[in-house]
Order: sequence, then C-alpha cells, then structure tokens
Amino acid sequence: MSNLQSSALARVKPSATLAVTAKARELKRVGRDVIGLGAGEPDFDTPDNVKAAAIAAIQRGETKYTDADGMPELKAAIVAKFARENGLTYDIGQIHVAPGGKTVIYNALVATLSPGDEVIVPAPYWVSYPDMVLLGGGEPVEVVGQEADGFKLRPEVLEAAITPRTKWIILNSPSNPTGAAYTRAELEALAEVLRRHPQVWVLTDDMYEHLTYGDFVYTTMAQVAPDLYDRTLTVNGVSKAYAMTGWRIGYAGGPKPLIDLMRKVASQTTSNPSSISQWAAVEALNGPQDFIAERGKAFERRRDLVVSMLNQATGVRCATPEGAFYVYPSIEGLIGKTTETGVVISDDEVFTTALLDAEGVAVVQGAAFGLSPYFRISYATSEAVLEDGCSRIQRFCASLR
Ligand SMILES: Cc1ncc(COP(=O)(O)O)c(C=O)c1O
Repeated sequence: MSNLQSSALARVKPSATLAVTAKARELKRVGRDVIGLGAGEPDFDTPDNVKAAAIAAIQRGETKYTDADGMPELKAAIVAKFARENGLTYDIGQIHVAPGGKTVIYNALVATLSPGDEVIVPAPYWVSYPDMVLLGGGEPVEVVGQEADGFKLRPEVLEAAITPRTKWIILNSPSNPTGAAYTRAELEALAEVLRRHPQVWVLTDDMYEHLTYGDFVYTTMAQVAPDLYDRTLTVNGVSKAYAMTGWRIGYAGGPKPLIDLMRKVASQTTSNPSSISQWAAVEALNGPQDFIAERGKAFERRRDLVVSMLNQATGVRCATPEGAFYVYPSIEGLIGKTTETGVVISDDEVFTTALLDAEGVAVVQGAAFGLSPYFRISYATSEAVLEDGCSRIQRFCASLR
C-alpha cells in the first residue's frame, strides 16, 4: 500500500484544529472533565426563521439539483448583501456558491493554480490555506505578521514576498486564529503594493466580517481599492455570521472569468450545495439581521473576559483583537519551565498537550497556524465555561517551575 497516497496529498497534513476537537471529544467519552476551547464554531443555534425556511423548502419539494454553483434566488440574495453591506456591485454571473467557504476557496485555487505558482499566505493563518494551495498544485509562501503589528502583514513584507510566480495573496480579516482585523488604512497600504504587481490576484476571506467589536469599522479590499476589483475574489459565507456551520453554504463574488472557471470545477466535483441549505441561506441573508448585533455583544463580553483572565496567568501575554472569536496569546514567558510531572515546556505543542493532560483544557498550538510560541483559544462558548477554562489555564501556568 506504500504507493496508495497521491503525491499531492502526501504534501498535506490533516487539519490540526479538527484533531484537537476529536481528541477532546475522545477524552470526554472516556469520562474526563474536558473544556474544549479548540473548535471554531459559534455555540449559538441557527436562528428560528432560517430553520423555518429550510422546513418550508422541504415541504415545497425544493429537493432537486440546482445549478452547480448555486441557484439564482440565492445568488440574488448574495448580490444584495454585497451591495448593502460592502458597497460592492456584482451581477448574478459573478457569484459562486459552494458547500462552505472552505470549498469556495478550494475551488478558486484548483481553478487557477499551475505547478510552480506561488500563493502568499500571511501567518498566523487559517490552517487550511497552505494545504489547500498544495492540493491545488501550488506553492504556499508564508510571510509572518508579528505580534507587535497586531499580527498583521506589513506592506514591505508583502512587497518582498512577491515574485513573478506569485498568483494569489490570501487575506483574512478578521483573522482566524488571531482575531486581528485590517483597518481601511492598512488595506490601502497593501493595495498600494499590489498595484505595482498586476499578476497578483487577491483572495479576501471575509468569513468573520460580522464579528468585530467596539468602534471598529469593517471594510474589504475590493471596496477600499476599486481598481483591484478585477482581480479580487471576495469570499464570505453564512457559517459564522448566522451560526450555520453544519448547513455548508459559502459564497464569493469576483470577476466573471474567474467565476466561470470555479463553476467548471464545481460542475465536475461537488455539484450544487444542498438545495435546502441554499433556501435557508436565502432567508439568513434577506431576513431580519438583529441577531448579528445581539450576538456580537455577547462575543465582545467573552473576548474581554478571556483577554483579562489570560493576562493574569503567569508567563502569558494576550493582546486584545478587533474581531472573530479567537485570541492568540503568547507563552514566551513559559518556555523552558517544567510541569509538576517533569515535562519541559519546550514549545507550544508541548504546552497544549501538557495543559490538556493536567487540566483538561483543549486549545490549539500556534505551530499549526505558522507562528510560535503561541496558542489559540476559541471563545465561542459560555462565560461560565470560559471562566472555568481560563482559571484552569491560570492554575496550570502557576504550577510550572
Ligand atoms: C478563516 C476561515 N475561512 C473559512 C472557513 C470555512 O468556513 P466554512 O465552514 O463555511 O467552510 C473557516 C472556518 O473555520 C475559517 O475560519
């Protein structure tokens, strides 16, 4: 069986975040008291109006194939969303719908990458980007956003990473795993660099658009730099904004030639995402939006709680991010210390494993996201659970010698 795995898949590692979730679930199953702060999904339920729309779609018999890249009714709702919320004008022929934002990004990369093409992936990055680039036959080029810059990519770092083979840059704001979000001025500075390199396409992953806090004003690249519209793919979805991770609907707006290529990929692979989920997404986008603001307030309280409690843990330093539902604390102050059972904390992977063993708290090591020594906490869970989890982290850090 040694030649079973394809050479493309052999370059790919399994998702570290799904692995942590699975390990936490397994420990729970065998009776351990585990607090899972690893999973990247809202704990809120899908709104009732969205569920009702799905039930109505089933009862109407909307149970057949749709167009491979989404039905016109959903594309119209997406066109309206981009106009209403982002000031972006697309027509229906410029919209792609697929089973989750993940598939949208994958379709774009598979549709466009040839061997040797480079994709700039700013770290800390969402775990799937580099591996999706590899599966698509391209080469991920990692560049690092430092903690001192709020984990954001500096224009001169972007400039230095671009080569004649650069096909894409992937921007993700607010970010998974850091929660960092780019201001209009920061996007404008990156756009200035991109103007000098017309071969580079821009993929913006706006999945956490609706999760920003305080007075942060959200903007996306095609809106800030209209002259880059013809080479920007604006990716979004209903998973995080409407607590619909299991429904599997993601979408994108972009230039028609690119959208046509992505449709070709979908037509020979997934075909359409579930017709019922598509009708649910129509209701999510066209229906009442007050759910988003209410839930945003709860997330902001959780963020403040977690940041404050982590900064009280010995050796931990945690910045306050602008959005998403993640924080990315540094454990620089713990490297070299020893646990009560004699384990030396040599890196963030050892830290997260020791934390899970000692206190039953599941978090994800920074190494999975391309920047160490850090870890990621997802605060998409109740304040009671977060308080318990952070108290355990404090106790664990205090126990290190
Ligand atoms: C940054 C980012 N992009 C895309 C996705 C994928 O979303 P979906 O569940 O719609 O595939 C996720 C999900 O974790 C994410 O964090």
